[in-house]
Amino acid sequence: MNRLFGVIGDPIAHSMSPLMHNAIISAHHLKGYYHPFHIKRKDLEVAIKGMKALGVEGFNVTIPHKESILPLLDKVDPLAKAIGAVNTVVREGDSLIGYNTDGDGFISSLEKTVCNEDSVLVVGAGGAAKAIVYSLANKGIAHIDITNRTVEKAEEMLQKCPFPLKGKALSLEIAEKHLNRYDVIIQTTSIGMHPYIEESPMEVRQLKKSAFIVDIIYNPSETKFLQEARKQGAQVQNGLGMFVHQGALAFEKWTGIQPNTMKMKQVVLNQLGGNDNANR
Ligand code: ATR
Repeated sequence: MNRLFGVIGDPIAHSMSPLMHNAIISAHHLKGYYHPFHIKRKDLEVAIKGMKALGVEGFNVTIPHKESILPLLDKVDPLAKAIGAVNTVVREGDSLIGYNTDGDGFISSLEKTVCNEDSVLVVGAGGAAKAIVYSLANKGIAHIDITNRTVEKAEEMLQKCPFPLKGKALSLEIAEKHLNRYDVIIQTTSIGMHPYIEESPMEVRQLKKSAFIVDIIYNPSETKFLQEARKQGAQVQNGLGMFVHQGALAFEKWTGIQPNTMKMKQVVLNQLGGNDNANR
């Protein structure tokens, strides 16, 4: 029997997850298929029941269902519960278990090791930032400041983190003046994403010489934020690795197979029609 996987979201047609997962399903000679399910908010509950009834083994969850799916699942992993969002569901017997692989996917994707002595700045305080901050804190990285247009959201994220954190909440203006304090800067907002490629959440100047700058956007392959950082000699990385690794961790949970992330990356790059020159 064919094994069935998928992703639920609204919109869903643009998702590159089906392409990426179907490529690894065939690379690993599995008899299976990964389907994009277009599920509207109002249909989420019935859709989850449908996933169970149809025997879907595992699925990803994207906008707008990452938060609202939690009460509909049989069990939610503690990290996903702390983040308040699920991006991966695994079927175990008759139960659906929710996980969040976004933050750990981000960490696995890092091309430079981030250690607990590093001083980290996270730009943004939305869902993606929370997955990254809580996953880093869960791994013992505690010196994390958060800067956000709405500073209260950054404060709340720091206060509610269930793992030890020694960070501060900063306005964008203050953070911008003190970028040279940070070893690692992670841009998590959608500012600079295609087609608004001229936008940036802040000016990037006076970086530490050895700074490592990551933007979780991968289209364009190099945001204005990353371009400015690279011009100053910083090592930069875009968000393609995070996308690939969150998918790889989900695939491993469903199948027990650690997929070839290079192949996954290549498939997405081919689809984007670009190269990977932002990661240098
Ligand atoms: P996601 O789940 O993708 O992280 P989100 O929860 O909507 O998305 O969060 C978006 C982030 O981008 C937030 O940090 C938001 O700042 P606010 O909390 O102040 O809204 C940030 N953001 C969105 N538009 C912005 C803008 N024009 N300038 C600066 N930050 C912006």
